[in-house]
Parts: sequence; structure tokens; C-alpha cells
Amino acid sequence: MLLTRSEIDRRVNDLAGQISRDYAGCDLLLIGVLKGAFIFMADLARALSIPCQTDFIRAASYGAGSESSGTIVITKDVDAEVRGRDVLIIEDIIDTGLTLRHIVDTLMLRQPKSIKVCAFLDKRRRRKIPFEADYVGFSMEDGFVVGYGLDFNEQDRHWPDVYVIPNPV
Ligand code: XMP
Ligand code: MG
Repeated sequence: MLLTRSEIDRRVNDLAGQISRDYAGCDLLLIGVLKGAFIFMADLARALSIPCQTDFIRAASYGAGSESSGTIVITKDVDAEVRGRDVLIIEDIIDTGLTLRHIVDTLMLRQPKSIKVCAFLDKRRRRKIPFEADYVGFSMEDGFVVGYGLDFNEQDRHWPDVYVIPNPV
């Protein structure tokens, strides 16, 4: 096991407190990246003490195995108007950085007032391009993780804790 339900709870509440202070008085739009972020976003949103709206986006990466290839395509766009809003993208995990780079660049073209990223997990050492999230739940070393929204072949997303899978194939 990498993270227990209670460690996750504490950290998510800390992040929600920080985000609530940083975005006080703002027109906050949370955009969750499907599917992995659905549980993190649900917990984070409920722990906020400020108003916000919620929407979702989905991106697919074309290539083999569990790694991003570099070709990212938006397969479900947000419905909400992004222009002039304070956008906070909620992602499960940052690995190479390619997915979030593409999502941020795509949404930037719509002229939000601000755009930031909150990631539950950050595999900092695996970047293929430089990418920094504004809020990070936990940093981790290499290794494939499941649970709390994260999947292995669509399994295990519903697990309340986070586990490392030794050798995913
Ligand atoms: P990039 O490489 O574009 O990829 O930053 C981010 C996406 O890759 C997936 N990913 C994982 N999914 N366990 C997962 O369940 C992992 O350890 C893992 N590492 C990367 C994830 O979909 C994320 O959005
Ligand atoms: Mg994902």
C-alpha cells in the first residue's frame, strides 16, 4: 500500500483549505480530467468552503501500454464557458506531463481569467517535458498505482486506498 484512506483524507482536506483561501471571491470552475480524477474531485469539491462550479474533460493518449505516447486527443470537451473564469484543472496523476500540457494549452486558447492545476499524485521524475502543478497531493517515485480513481485496465478505481502494482504489463 502507498497511501491509506486516512492519509488521503487529511491531505485532501489540507488542499481544499489552501484552495478555498487562494480562490476566495473568485469565479472558480473545477474541471476534472476523466476518468481517474472523479473520486479525488468529489472529495476535494466537498471539502471546499467556497462556491465553485464543476465540469469534466476527457483526454486519450495514443500509444502502447501504460505510458503516454505524445499524441493527446480531447475525447470529451467541457460544456462550461471557460472564458473569463478561474479554472482549476483536477487530475489524478502527472506522469510525463504530456496530457496536462495539452489540456492546459487547449483551455488557454479560450481565454480563462486564470488557469491552474491540482494533481492528486505527481511522479516528478518521469517528465518528458517540464510541467509543474500548482497544487499536488503527494509526490511519488516511479511505479504504477491504482485505487482512489486510478485504474489498471479499468479495474480497481473504487479502492479507497492507493496501492502500487509491482510490474504492470
Ligand atoms: P501523462 O504521462 O500524460 O499521463 O502525464 C497522465 C495520465 O497517465 C495515466 N497514468 C496512470 N494511471 N496509474 C494509473 O492508473 C499510474 O500509475 C499512472 N501513471 C500515469 C493517468 O491516466 C494520467 O491521467
Ligand atoms: Mg487520467
